[in-house]
Amino acid sequence: MIPELSNPSVCMKDPQRVQKVLQSIAEAGANKLQVISDFDMTLTRFSYNGKRCPTCHNILDNSRAISSECKQKLADLLKTYYPIEIDTSLSVEEKLPLMVEWWTKAHDLLVEQKVRKDQLAEAVHESEARLRDGYEFFFNHLHKHDVPLLIFSAGIGDILEEVIRHFNVFLSNVKIFSNYMDFDESGTLRAFKGELIHVYNKREGALLNTGHFQELRTRPNVLLLGDSIGDLNMADGVQDMQNILKIGFLNDKVEERKQTYLDSYDIVLVKDETMDVPNAIVLYLT
Ligand code: C5P
Ligand code: MG
Repeated sequence: MIPELSNPSVCMKDPQRVQKVLQSIAEAGANKLQVISDFDMTLTRFSYNGKRCPTCHNILDNSRAISSECKQKLADLLKTYYPIEIDTSLSVEEKLPLMVEWWTKAHDLLVEQKVRKDQLAEAVHESEARLRDGYEFFFNHLHKHDVPLLIFSAGIGDILEEVIRHFNVFLSNVKIFSNYMDFDESGTLRAFKGELIHVYNKREGALLNTGHFQELRTRPNVLLLGDSIGDLNMADGVQDMQNILKIGFLNDKVEERKQTYLDSYDIVLVKDETMDVPNAIVLYLT
């Protein structure tokens, strides 16, 4: 039906279900569809030329806005907590307090650094951040067909916006839920706004934004894209949902995590740095 579903990176536990859901969503048409996507390591690349690509946090952590002493502390946090984030031997309940700890410690360090608003664009321009190959089609096609794209990220909203602006895809159909910085009148970071979104509380984040989903209640079909098990909850606020198709990028610790991903995502893309499969699906659905 969609030739790209035979790509070597594609794994599916139940291809028939995928077929059925795709058909139902396609028949209902573009005006019944909404897309919900994670950002870091889902819309952005995980690696490029053998090197890891940065998350929103990493873009800032590695920038000139941060002292070398603080860079070391942020790198130590990453080294401690990232393995916990992706550890399959721990339950989400066990990981939760540790994730809050990671985000809180990292955000406190960024505030201590007195990061200035005007340093963010420079941090993005000088970074190695990259959207996945084929991102132009993905963003432009959804925009052309008036399909709302919600980017739901536990990263830093201000950096995320700068990245999609940098790549010219901050289009009118894009809405963002993320952690936003709060700057004082001189443009210096003083805190983060609102409730913290980390990688395992996206359900709570979704439920805080009922207004958005209320506006989109005439669009009961959802295409969800993520790279973490926590991303599966991003659509928990969707009202009157009829169909959902979940695409998961499995970037890291593939052997350990493959079965979990196959059990949770309809389509698993193993070490696939492109948007080829999501693009083919979006084209089929609209
Ligand atoms: O956009 P997304 O929800 O994927 O953003 C969260 C990602 O940011 C996590 O997967 C985590 O590995 C990363 N992170 C980071 N540095 C932090 C906190 C989170 O790189 N201080
Ligand atoms: Mg992610």
